[in-house]
Amino acid sequence: MVDFEAIRGEFPILDQRIHGHPLVYLDSAATSQKPNAVIDAEADFYRTINAGVHRGAHELAARSTMAFEEARAKVAKLVGANAAEGEEEIVVTGGATAGLNLLATAFGNASLGRGGEAAKRFALKPGDEIVVSRAEHHSVLLPFQELAYRTGAAFKWIDLTEDGRVRTDNLDEVITERTKVVAVTHVGNTTGAITDIAPIIKRAHAVGAVFILDACQSVPHLKVDFHALDVDFAAWSAHKMYGPTGVGFLYGKRELLEALPPANFGGSMVELAYMDHEAQYMAPPARFEAGTQPVSQVVAAGVAAEWMMNIGLENIEAHERTIAAELLKLGDIDGIRILGPRENVNRIGTVAFDVKGVHPHDVGQYIDAQGIAIRVGHHCAQPVHRHFGLYASNRASSGVYNSVEDAQTLVEAAQGIRKFFEVE
Ligand SMILES: Cc1ncc(COP(=O)(O)O)c(C=O)c1O
Repeated sequence: MVDFEAIRGEFPILDQRIHGHPLVYLDSAATSQKPNAVIDAEADFYRTINAGVHRGAHELAARSTMAFEEARAKVAKLVGANAAEGEEEIVVTGGATAGLNLLATAFGNASLGRGGEAAKRFALKPGDEIVVSRAEHHSVLLPFQELAYRTGAAFKWIDLTEDGRVRTDNLDEVITERTKVVAVTHVGNTTGAITDIAPIIKRAHAVGAVFILDACQSVPHLKVDFHALDVDFAAWSAHKMYGPTGVGFLYGKRELLEALPPANFGGSMVELAYMDHEAQYMAPPARFEAGTQPVSQVVAAGVAAEWMMNIGLENIEAHERTIAAELLKLGDIDGIRILGPRENVNRIGTVAFDVKGVHPHDVGQYIDAQGIAIRVGHHCAQPVHRHFGLYASNRASSGVYNSVEDAQTLVEAAQGIRKFFEVE
């Protein structure tokens, strides 16, 4: 039995009052709070072993390199990826956005003929197709839309059901023999809906397309195994999984990482560099990690991964499901509509809602005045909001430190919104 109250006690930031009320943090889909173990890991790194990794013969460099690679292995374990030397499947990035842009840029480079014969599987040309879903965060939508513009490939998308789930009933129509890339979110950052990705991956592979998963909103909340899911690439951010900002990870099947040309160029990614002919790049993951790496953040992200595994991903999932059930009661309030599935099935504790007649910013301020932190805006998912006939919404989202009482506090506060703004 996991003591979630004790876990909450590991987050010093939560122990404060906001506007005279105990802080209720329900904005973990934007960024999670950090436990002491993670905060200490970053500070300890600077106090004891700070040095650049993978170069330098001195002892601190050796220790920081070891800590960096151990962190990579912990993160790999969290998502079921390979970590053995020479078989690494985890690339360090600056975050999910950086990882997705890395892929789109690398595919663009392959389309220009870079990366030789092996990279041809990533090359796009007019007549080819890139497929995303309407549920995507802008950090999937825009890099792959730009890739389509750059290469002349057609840009297509899988639409949503009425309650905001990615459709799977028309995949054969949308994903065709011309489709080369399919990029889909694992969990909608607005709807909280878990995408039924198995049939999408199956269809993508049946037509020979590469499948990319946006795992930003799944890795922090669900047990995820990229090998079992058979995804080709996946990107996510450390800061949403109780780790630091400024760092994220890109998973790639080893054989695909080996075939993928680099996207960023500079130090630490090149074996041989010349003035008068082409450089010879290193094997993955170094090939994709140009420049000085965010070492302390990676080390702390490794601690976050370990910390989550110690609690148990199944336990985290089950705990947050109880909070989701409570948050979904927002939909029982007169004049409040939930943007996403109403039932607590195949979803996480991310619940976006619209309050009829009250601007989302006014709602956010009213809720904030009671010490409750929720999100306001389009959550970088404008097409999702258009699907619901809106431009913006409010979003409550859970983390492992939330209690059912936190969700109740929000639901109680929400009951007073329309009366306060005199639209009832
Ligand atoms: C589903 C999803 N994808 C991608 C991102 C982008 O993550 P980051 O801003 O950390 O790069 C987010 C963050 O909000 C997200 O929720």
